[in-house]
Amino acid sequence: MKDFTGKVAVITGGASGVGRSLAFALGRRGAKIVVGDVDTAAMEQVGKELEAEGIAAMVAHCDVTQLDSQNALADAAQEAFGGIHLVFANAGIGAGESGAMWDYSEKDWQWCLNVNLWGVINAIRAFMPRLVAQGEPAHFVVTGSGNGALLVYPDQPIYTATKAAVHTITENLHYQVQAGQLPVAVSALFPGPHIVDTGLFNSGRVRPEALQKESSGNASGINSVDDMKRMAAEYGIELQTTHPDEVAAMAIAGLEKDAFWLLETTPETDAKIRARCEMIMNRSTPVPDQVGG
Ligand SMILES: NC(=O)c1ccc[n+]([C@@H]2O[C@H](COP(=O)([O-])OP(=O)(O)OC[C@H]3O[C@@H](n4cnc5c(N)ncnc54)[C@H](O)[C@@H]3O)[C@@H](O)[C@H]2O)c1
Repeated sequence: MKDFTGKVAVITGGASGVGRSLAFALGRRGAKIVVGDVDTAAMEQVGKELEAEGIAAMVAHCDVTQLDSQNALADAAQEAFGGIHLVFANAGIGAGESGAMWDYSEKDWQWCLNVNLWGVINAIRAFMPRLVAQGEPAHFVVTGSGNGALLVYPDQPIYTATKAAVHTITENLHYQVQAGQLPVAVSALFPGPHIVDTGLFNSGRVRPEALQKESSGNASGINSVDDMKRMAAEYGIELQTTHPDEVAAMAIAGLEKDAFWLLETTPETDAKIRARCEMIMNRSTPVPDQVGG
């Protein structure tokens, strides 16, 4: 997809971070923007800012964990703008994991699986039938993470599990649209190359009442990228970060080439991916520092 003018882009989790940056970047390229999010106040603010720039936009409350809610978002987008050309299944959370996974609260597992995994499954079920029926060139983009898809960082087992599953689903979706010769291109977006400075580390702000943490026993104590920077500095490490606008620019450059992998890495990450592949080929025992975190 080279020309975004007049195209309709639906972005889940568009009230903050990567989704928000995608909304502005695509809007500035002439796309009409539909943001679905559970953070109503932030979403409405984004809607106002998009409109102030003269970008055609609508925002609608959408809880990605609910299929009905994603169907309603799709209906609203079609009603407002007459079609859908780009879908970003982007909403995601970090559960603030820390400690041994067997001590985790069941609610941590449920919340993260609900948003990160079911959010993507529901997006596929709500939007793919419409894109297929529409019969026009369209793009379905899933925001994954190298943590799970490419590497296994040892300190966030729930998040890693969701992103591993999400990646296999994304790759399978690609194979299925290819096999069906459908006009829908599928891409896997990996925010990076460094930790992206977003609200992900403060996801508790949108944690549902019914799945609140049961104890503070496994709280990581990290609530922002600044917290991570401070913690890294204590070990003499200067943590590098990426701005979400850079992720949006990388994603759009990839979409223009119909690329599957919307992925920018550092030489260090490349070395770990290679080491991980070799570890599997050699059947050697995993060593976290070499193949993951
Ligand atoms: N920040 C990073 O370093 C990084 C790295 C790799 C992948 N990612 C992925 O990028 C995506 C976007 O996250 P971000 O980093 O921009 O974080 P963010 O917190 O800034 O944005 C996530 C958005 O998702 C929304 N959201 C949460 N639960 C929702 C739900 N149930 N329904 C609808 N919306 C919901 C939040 O309100 C928020 O607006 C996520 O899938 C995340 O896993 C982020």
